[in-house]
Amino acid sequence: MTFETTKKLANGSVIPRLGLGVWKVEDGTEAVDSVKWALESGYRLIDTAAAYKNEAGVGKGIRESGVPREEIFVTTKLWNADQGYESTLKAFDESLKRLDLDYVDLYLIHWPVEGKYKDSWRAMEEIYRSGRAKAIGVSNFHEHHLEELLKDATVSPAVDQIEIHPTLTQEPLRRFLADHSIAAEAWSPLGQGKILENPVLVEIGKKYDKTAAQVIIRWHLQNDIIVIPKSVHKDRIKQNFDVFDFELTEDELEQINQLNTNERLGPDPDNFDF
Ligand code: A2P
Repeated sequence: MTFETTKKLANGSVIPRLGLGVWKVEDGTEAVDSVKWALESGYRLIDTAAAYKNEAGVGKGIRESGVPREEIFVTTKLWNADQGYESTLKAFDESLKRLDLDYVDLYLIHWPVEGKYKDSWRAMEEIYRSGRAKAIGVSNFHEHHLEELLKDATVSPAVDQIEIHPTLTQEPLRRFLADHSIAAEAWSPLGQGKILENPVLVEIGKKYDKTAAQVIIRWHLQNDIIVIPKSVHKDRIKQNFDVFDFELTEDELEQINQLNTNERLGPDPDNFDF
C-alpha cells in the first residue's frame, strides 16, 4: 500500500498530511517537550496560534529538536483582536518574534471576524508576497465567508482549518473546499478525545490492532483531510503517528461517516463572541 504522507497545496507548498496540534498545550516545558517528541516520532507539521500563547515554546522545541527548520512545516494564526490591515501586519511580526523564526509555512486567519476579515486578508496577501509566510489560509470559514473573501482576493486561501471529526463530518463544506482547491484541515480531529470509546471505532480498531484514535486519524487521511491531533503525552504522540501501516475499507469509512450527528464541540463560525 502506498500513501502520500504530504499534500501539495494550491500555491505549490507541500504540507504533511498529519501533524501535531498544540491548542491547550502550556507554553514552556509542556510545549517544548510535545514538539520535540513529535519531531522525534517523525511528525513534520506543527500547528500553533497566537491565541494558544505557546508560540515561544513551539519555536524552542523546534530548535532543540535538531531537525532542520526547512524540513518542518510550521503553522500559526492571526488572533481576532488583531484583525484589520495594519494590526495584522503587526501581529504577524509579533508571532514570528515569539516563535523566533524567519518565516512560517502557513499563516491562517483564525476566525472570520465580520467587517474585518477582508482587510486582514489584504495584509495576509502582503505577508505572503514578502515570503515570510510561504502559504496563507483561513480557519473556521463557512462557504459564505469564503465566497465573500474570494470576491476581492488576489491570492486564494490554500487551506481552511475547520472542526471535523466523526461526529461532525462537514461533507458539504468539504465538497466546496475541494471544488475551490482549498485544502481541508481538521481541528479537534479526535473530537477532543470525547469519542474514543465509541464502539464502532473501537471495534474497527480491533481488526487492525489499532486504537480508536488511530482509526479516526486514518479516517481523516483517507478522506484527504489534513489532521493535527493534540497530545502532551509521548506515548500518545507516537501512537497517533503510527497510522501508515493499515488501511480502512470503504465499508469501514462509511460506518464512521454514519457517526455524524452535526454536533459541534466548538462555536459556530456564524455565532462566536470572541
Ligand atoms: P492528552 O493531551 O492528555 O494526551 P483533539 O486533537 O481532537 O483536540 O483531541 C485531543 C484530546 O485527545 C486531548 O484531550 C488528548 O489528551 C487526547 N488524546 C490525544 N491522543 C490520544 C490517544 N491516542 N489516546 C487517548 N487520548 C488521546
